[in-house]
Amino acid sequence: MQTDPWHNDLDHYLDIAQDLARQAGALIKDQWLTTKTVEIKTDMVDLVTNVDKAADALITEALHTRLPDHQVLAEESALSGPDSPYRWYIDPLDGTTNFAHTFPHFAVSVGLTYESQPIVGVVYDPIRNELFCARRGSGASLNGSPIRVSSTPSLDRSLLLTGFPYDRRQRSHFYLSFYQAFMLRTQGIRRSGSAALDLCYTACGRADGFWEWRLYPWDSAAGALIVEEAGGRMSDFGGQTFELTGDQLLASNGKIHQALIEVLQHVLSTSSERSGA
Ligand code: IPD
Ligand code: CA
Ligand code: CA
Repeated sequence: MQTDPWHNDLDHYLDIAQDLARQAGALIKDQWLTTKTVEIKTDMVDLVTNVDKAADALITEALHTRLPDHQVLAEESALSGPDSPYRWYIDPLDGTTNFAHTFPHFAVSVGLTYESQPIVGVVYDPIRNELFCARRGSGASLNGSPIRVSSTPSLDRSLLLTGFPYDRRQRSHFYLSFYQAFMLRTQGIRRSGSAALDLCYTACGRADGFWEWRLYPWDSAAGALIVEEAGGRMSDFGGQTFELTGDQLLASNGKIHQALIEVLQHVLSTSSERSGA
């Protein structure tokens, strides 16, 4: 039987991902109550701090030293390393707005893909000391214990998560039309400010589903694998294959997935505004 080329190295890659997520998490936790340098990338709502950059450099440099044949795409640096089927997607600090305001909900996200297929995912919340991990084909865990998605059977019993993209000031009506539709059909919606943790919370059953427009691959590479390995489902808003570079992310416990798609499609078909994708 032919095995995937990454198969024998998966434990090694997972160890590296965990180690670097913890190291970056320690750096972030150390700094979160200190005064940070906050820069605005776009439109007053897209922020970056000196700590995002320091965590980015820590992970990127360590990956190049430990795996010089691999490519790395980290949010705060350019694509680096040689051409390779292996690419790491790094969000050194997911939840920067929370972090900048000392709101204690943010994470480090470290994902590895082989030919665009996620094979390792690690998300670390340094405040709660929660480490979410997945290896392709081996399930997902939280601090070493296996996790599963919820068994919530229907939308009217569900708790959902969402986030709003950086063009939200220009397109607030459009994004809020989805929020309103789910507000009328669920037990609640939370906007946590960290997409990586939204995926992990869906994976471990703290929420039943998560939708968001226009995330980047570094937001979702690790978390998407964690959802799937925890028994959940990932797709776009029409139920098609979820692509890391696509502009629609839908995650759920599987049981409510079709109902989520129906609401999303209904809003899309009745919205006067186009997706702009
Ligand atoms: C953001 C967070 C947020 C989501 C945004 C992301 P950042 O990432 O994940 O929850 O709504 O779309 O860009 O900028 O804090 O790394
Ligand atoms: Ca992010
Ligand atoms: Ca970030």
